[in-house]
Amino acid sequence: VGVDKEPQPHYPFRFFRADALKFLLERRWDFEHLGRRVAAIHASPPCQDHSRLKNATGRSHGTGHLLVATRELLEAVGLPWVIENVPGADMRPDYKLCGCQFNLPGLTRERWFETSWHGFAMQPPCSCPTGFDIVDCTGHSPQGRIYKARRAAGLPPPGGIAEKRAAMGIDWMNRNELAQAIPPAYTEYIGAQLLDAVRSAA
Ligand SMILES: C[S@@+](CC[C@H](N)C(=O)[O-])C[C@H]1O[C@@H](n2cnc3c(N)ncnc32)[C@H](O)[C@@H]1O
Repeated sequence: VGVDKEPQPHYPFRFFRADALKFLLERRWDFEHLGRRVAAIHASPPCQDHSRLKNATGRSHGTGHLLVATRELLEAVGLPWVIENVPGADMRPDYKLCGCQFNLPGLTRERWFETSWHGFAMQPPCSCPTGFDIVDCTGHSPQGRIYKARRAAGLPPPGGIAEKRAAMGIDWMNRNELAQAIPPAYTEYIGAQLLDAVRSAA
């Protein structure tokens, strides 16, 4: 089940358009009356106020408070939880994942994950691509920084949306959605850690 305050027409599962904090506060995740039980909650609060870009410009997106507010509500719910955000966010990075750990072609997207079970994994040395080998899945312009750098160097343009989708391991999103997304390979990895944690606590 997915929740977002914006419509997500390409989301492949059951979707609720709602404020995520209200959804938690009002126990709208509690589907017991429908015969279904939510076992864990993953949250990806907006990262703009925690990103390196924000730190460089000092400009606020106005959403930085959501990370702390989300953590407080998840603690109150009491189910196992995961919070994802960007490197440098004010969180405990139990897991640090990036594209090279999953052989995602050209992806440089490090993400941090804080977990209710205080997980831990050794961080393998990073072998992410650099320079023109990066597939730029950030931003909302068809002509991002790698496009411009390749053009300035007289190289052919990058492979567009198909290349971005391959890098992210997602074939159902448009460019704007890809810019916000977490690669499913990361989520699958975190999901496996979650299942281990839940089983060992049982
Ligand atoms: C990092 S993206 C989430 C990416 C998504 N989990 C994925 O893997 O594709 C952050 C999302 O938070 C949504 N958002 C921002 N504030 C919100 C709020 N108060 N309630 C629900 N969603 C919110 C934004 O619309 C945006 O889609």
